[in-house]
Amino acid sequence: MKVLVVGGGGREHAMAWALARSPRVEAVIVAPGNAGTALEPKVRNAQVGAGDIPALAQLARHEAVEFTVVGPEAPLVAGIVDAFSEAGLRCLGPTQQAAELEGSKAFAKSFMVRHGIPTAAHETFADLDAAAAYIREVGAPVVIKADGLAAGKGVTVAENLDEALLAAEGMLSGEAFGEAGRRVVVEERLVGEEISFIALVDGEQVVSLASSQDHKARDDGDQGPNTGGMGAYSPAPRVDEALHRRIMDEVMTPAVHGLAAEGRRYTGFLYAGLMVTPDGVPKVLEFNCRLGDPEAQPLLMRLDSDFAELCLAALDGRIASADVRWDARAALGVVLAAGGYPGPIAKGLPIEGLDLPLPPDTRLFHGGTAFDEEGRVVTHGGRVLCACGLGASVTEAQEKAYRLADQIRWDGVFYRRDIGYRAIQR
Ligand code: AMP
Ligand code: GLY
Repeated sequence: MKVLVVGGGGREHAMAWALARSPRVEAVIVAPGNAGTALEPKVRNAQVGAGDIPALAQLARHEAVEFTVVGPEAPLVAGIVDAFSEAGLRCLGPTQQAAELEGSKAFAKSFMVRHGIPTAAHETFADLDAAAAYIREVGAPVVIKADGLAAGKGVTVAENLDEALLAAEGMLSGEAFGEAGRRVVVEERLVGEEISFIALVDGEQVVSLASSQDHKARDDGDQGPNTGGMGAYSPAPRVDEALHRRIMDEVMTPAVHGLAAEGRRYTGFLYAGLMVTPDGVPKVLEFNCRLGDPEAQPLLMRLDSDFAELCLAALDGRIASADVRWDARAALGVVLAAGGYPGPIAKGLPIEGLDLPLPPDTRLFHGGTAFDEEGRVVTHGGRVLCACGLGASVTEAQEKAYRLADQIRWDGVFYRRDIGYRAIQR
């Protein structure tokens, strides 16, 4: 069978690679993909943007793919699954209504309150005076969030009132994020350890994937500005059996059942970003309607069973009996970012070291890469590459990932040196 992957980042390269490993998959098409997916055996790119839903449907039909799997949130929130199913095409992911869980933070918060899912206390505002009055009432630190999609930049964890008021004003005026900021969620700041919990859902049943954790801050020691993620690893030792059970019982299952009860049946990957408070309570920071990036890269490196079969099981509503096995080893991925990320970056810089042999037990997933006119692989985004290693422990996986990262170079490349440190300390 042929399969279509929508997206062009590191997560999508990992998804395409994992699908191509299936003996049943003869070809994977990635739209639009990157230089890494273009070079991957059994995988090719199609020059169709991840936001062009009609063209993607045409591509899926033309290539007669068995199914499509969507990487990023934007096409899901825009209704790609609805459009595909109207056209008789199978597409793994939530419908537009179900994807609102990520598409609107105001919806997600009120949904959690309705279903008793633990989360930070909050209020939603469309009016600056009302928001400002509430911010002054609760005081700092406080968290201000744009309601809609803001490419991972819509959250301000404000240390003082001025910062909080400025963030709310920027959002509500439409200046910071356009329409996505016309409503804001003001919420209590939670402290604790942040973890990612990702499951595959078939409309009713929820099967958790292996645990994982990412590092969102740009700099070592989890300092500096927030990013899409500078590295991730799996398993996350913080998630022991008791915590796992709690998250399934208190968060994932009530979310999926609650959505179904509200007429928003959920199919696809469901990602809960959680803060585990010092007393061990998992509270939801956000829901995402997709796999994490970069969590997907180490996660899929550990997947021992057939990823295509797993996607089909979710589409067929038989995920509970699917074969989900994981490599007992740990995997860790280090994101190699362009200089300036998460701010403005340069593109088109040639990447050196890609022709060197990969160290044992490593894999290099491309994120923001492209080919220049001479056919060289060049940088083309903020998170350029993700160097992954597999090892007997997180420490060993980290050593291998850095061995790979250290053999790659371009002008301005930077990456954190401490990905996985929390797991290693533990
Ligand atoms: P979100 O997009 O909602 O996950 O927010 C991005 C990041 O902001 C999260 O990964 C957290 O690090 C931080 N964050 C969000 N909400 C809170 C909160 N209520 N308390 C503390 N940190 C938060
Ligand atoms: N790594 C965080 C995310 O994918 O949202």
